[in-house]
Amino acid sequence: MSDTAPIEHPTWLTTGDFTAADEPLRLFAAWLKDASTSEPRDPTAMTLATVDADGSPNARMVLLKGADERGFVFFTNVNSQKGRELDAHPRAALVFHWKSLNRQIRIRGPVETVTDAEADAYFASRPKQAQIGAWASKQSSPLESRLAFEKQVALYAAKYAIGAVPRPPYWSGYRILPLSIEFWHDRPFRLHDRIEFRRESLSAPWSKTRLYP
Ligand SMILES: Cc1cc2nc3c(=O)[nH]c(=O)nc-3n(C[C@H](O)[C@H](O)[C@H](O)COP(=O)(O)O)c2cc1C
Repeated sequence: MSDTAPIEHPTWLTTGDFTAADEPLRLFAAWLKDASTSEPRDPTAMTLATVDADGSPNARMVLLKGADERGFVFFTNVNSQKGRELDAHPRAALVFHWKSLNRQIRIRGPVETVTDAEADAYFASRPKQAQIGAWASKQSSPLESRLAFEKQVALYAAKYAIGAVPRPPYWSGYRILPLSIEFWHDRPFRLHDRIEFRRESLSAPWSKTRLYP
């Protein structure tokens, strides 16, 4: 897109001047709500960055399934690459980019596993086929063929044909506990607005800094 074509802000007025916000969680909720009406799909999609055993960054998309004052939750196979990386280095960064709004949010902080009760409740809310898929997939392990995977799906579909599907012991969620949350909104000619909220610890108050774009 050319620098001379100012971008429209379809929902900008719903949040007013976001740089005036005095804490990040309500602003996050407002932007996610805006994205829920403007994004064609997956407004909760976010990039999750972790570090591997060698200290190399690794990133992939996941879906946000909970956001409150405790942190930002997603669910996965804990034996996956990301699960192993988080177990070894329980720290992560998240990035949301909503193209329809020209907004970005970056979140960083330590990570904890959700409780079994939270994981059970979310697993129970998933469609049965997705529950079967969680049993059938050794996420991030080598797979010899599509057919081998489909055989596993058929096997677990038969096993759990009747009744509720239990949560696999290796399937759970992680919560990113935010120590910094940055909000970015594009402005014409790349004179963008950025504000970053930081806190020293999870119980400390947030402080806000405006950043050069
Ligand atoms: C939009 C989108 C959403 C996704 N959501 C999830 C998710 O919530 N949980 C998950 O385990 N994988 C999700 N995936 C797949 C991951 O990006 C990734 O391929 C998978 O988790 C394996 O990553 P890993 O090998 O780093 O563990 C999603 C992919 C896309 C494109």
